[in-house]
Amino acid sequence: MSLLPNQIAVVTGAGRGIGHAIALKFANAGADVVCVSRTAENAEKAAAEIRGLGRKAWAYSVDVSNTTQVEQACEQILGDTGRVDILVNNAGVTRDGLLMRMSESDWDTVLDTNLKGAFLFTRGFVRSFVKQRSGRIINVASVIGLIGNAGQSNYAASKAALIGFTKSVARELGSRGITVNALAPGFIETDMTAVLNDQIRQDLLKKIPLNGFGQPDDVAQAALFLASSGARYITGHVLTVDGGMTM
Ligand SMILES: NC(=O)c1ccc[n+]([C@@H]2O[C@H](COP(=O)([O-])OP(=O)(O)OC[C@H]3O[C@@H](n4cnc5c(N)ncnc54)[C@H](O)[C@@H]3O)[C@@H](O)[C@H]2O)c1
Repeated sequence: MSLLPNQIAVVTGAGRGIGHAIALKFANAGADVVCVSRTAENAEKAAAEIRGLGRKAWAYSVDVSNTTQVEQACEQILGDTGRVDILVNNAGVTRDGLLMRMSESDWDTVLDTNLKGAFLFTRGFVRSFVKQRSGRIINVASVIGLIGNAGQSNYAASKAALIGFTKSVARELGSRGITVNALAPGFIETDMTAVLNDQIRQDLLKKIPLNGFGQPDDVAQAALFLASSGARYITGHVLTVDGGMTM
């Protein structure tokens, strides 16, 4: 039985990593998927994979931190697909550094991508969700937004704010049949974490009860559940996918 029969999902940052895994997971569950990526090439590659699974897919190259680009994309997406059922705000970046040395541009890039990007896309689709009296919004936050991390004050601030945003919008939209939830992944093996050195990896591993790093598919499974009809009574929730790291 497919969990997302004929649903239409928009996934930002679908070109690689966790977003890519979510896009494919949703397509395998019966959804048609709009792949949003910074580069046209990555968006088109993900869309082609989804078409290969027999589902419809659209590719959009959008900088999620750019208001004009996001507004235009949301309008175009609704024109192309007719409706959107699921929005996954997944696009995100890190610009790590100690606060003392953090540049304003590193602060702005992280907040504009991770937080403003989610705001812009959510605002872009909210009217259509309200009109259809249904919708699923899933924001990909991070355990760092819950516990903080030295060297990631910009990233932690963006993800903690994204969690506050999630809960507020969940309260605003609950009466319209729209759920809004956040995922808080721990250490997941993607390009984002590939830059961490062995020492950091070994130290992290000691803090993970399930004794291993997560895979993009682990996060995609959780996203699939939150997007499915089985999660209809769950909203404003932050679901950690972290091997027990922050329990
Ligand atoms: N990997 C982890 O351990 C981990 C842990 C917790 C949370 N996360 C979050 O999961 C999400 C996905 O991360 P990932 O690990 O797959 O990283 P990744 O770097 O592999 O992928 C990030 C994606 O976001 C896209 N992106 C970045 N800036 C963008 C912009 N301005 N406009 C459009 N797209 C943009 C990138 O092109 C890429 O496709 C991020 O929000 C990240 O913060 C990751």
